[in-house]
Amino acid sequence: MKVSVLRQQFPGSSPYWESFAYDGPEDNSVAGMLDYINYHDDIVDIDGRRTTRIGWECSCLQGICGACAMVINGKPALACETFVREFRGKGIAIRPLQKFPVIHDLVVDRSSIHENLRQANVCIGAYMPAPDADHAHQYAAAKCLKCGLCLEVCPNYVDGKSFFGAAFANDCYLVASRNRFKAKEIRRIYADHFGNSCSKSLSCMEVCPMKIPTLASMASLNRDKT
Ligand code: SF4
Ligand code: FES
Repeated sequence: MKVSVLRQQFPGSSPYWESFAYDGPEDNSVAGMLDYINYHDDIVDIDGRRTTRIGWECSCLQGICGACAMVINGKPALACETFVREFRGKGIAIRPLQKFPVIHDLVVDRSSIHENLRQANVCIGAYMPAPDADHAHQYAAAKCLKCGLCLEVCPNYVDGKSFFGAAFANDCYLVASRNRFKAKEIRRIYADHFGNSCSKSLSCMEVCPMKIPTLASMASLNRDKT
């Protein structure tokens, strides 16, 4: 199977496509496939020319850490939860997430997700749940991997400088519902960086590997606002 990867040697350098011949098992995940291609000491491209290992990130290999988020045949997804057999007869083209600066090949810098939360002070502090706290919703929202897939598909998210996206909105919901003394301040921050600009495409919910109910988080924060 032909596997093409949009590569970039270092931040700011020109990206270029490079293709490889994959002859490993179809039951491999895309993460396993990248590992397979990278395994040999003498890595060659599809034409037999020597090349370098493909740069990509992983940690858990079971859909828990979010590190392996990339765009696979046009669809943003976790590489460890996408399987080679889905592309039988088609080939696979992989590129890095586009909404984040590329560090190397498929490795991107997603630190803005955490930095925005830190700068906006979206942290729980003292645990003080509202009397009507919905624990099932809190549990679901807390599963966010900070993988960035929701930001990749969001029509309003550009570079994370003003509009912070679904991952931010869900953390705002979590803090507002777990610390009622902070809820008013968090609702204001949420409105400034998400609520007032979201166009409700809800593409974030479709792509989210953890199926986080972002719409319910939005409804909760908007309902409390009134
Ligand atoms: S909300 Fe979902 S898609 Fe977005 S960062 Fe969290 S886990 Fe990833
Ligand atoms: S390696 Fe952790 S989610 Fe894919």
